[in-house]
Amino acid sequence: MGSLGVLLSQGQIKSKIAELAQTLREDYQDKNPLLIGILKGSFIFLSDLVRALDMPLEVEFVRLSSYVGWESSGLVEVVQDVQTPLKNRHVLVVEDIIDTGLSLDILLKHLHRKSPASLKVCALLDKPSRRKLPVSIDYLGFIIPDEFVVGYGLDCEEKFRWLPNICYIEKEDG
Ligand code: IMP
Ligand code: MG
Repeated sequence: MGSLGVLLSQGQIKSKIAELAQTLREDYQDKNPLLIGILKGSFIFLSDLVRALDMPLEVEFVRLSSYVGWESSGLVEVVQDVQTPLKNRHVLVVEDIIDTGLSLDILLKHLHRKSPASLKVCALLDKPSRRKLPVSIDYLGFIIPDEFVVGYGLDCEEKFRWLPNICYIEKEDG
């Protein structure tokens, strides 16, 4: 494994979340939105976003399979589902990073079948260069280059979730 370089600092992340929260507060005023975090990667982003929103809302989590190490296996399944009905709810999926788009595509189809009043996506990071399926991201933090990133909840084989900054792993030569 290579060394780590800072891509986005805590300060940059914090001000972006404040901006996102401002927009979301306007769009979800009086809607008691249900935020669905995708485990595990989004847990820190979701927590900071909820605190920045500072408005009535509810929280759920889903867990998807796939991703061993650096590359997606392409076989994504919902292994832990929401515990509450979505019918007539305003649902906002909160994701750490959109890469190929496979995970989000599967999850959105799955949630759509539960007849929410609205279904939107808020992602902290987008790596559009690796997209395999088109997905629309309604609220986005940062577009990033094709680098594998860790920290702020994101891992590489369960390591580095604790890092306060979002860092890229410099690939070793050869
Ligand atoms: P997708 O299905 O390829 O869009 O993958 C999305 C999921 O893969 C994210 O929720 C992350 O858990 C994981 N992932 C994708 N890229 C990275 C990365 O650079 N670092 C850490 N996890 C990543
Ligand atoms: Mg994830």
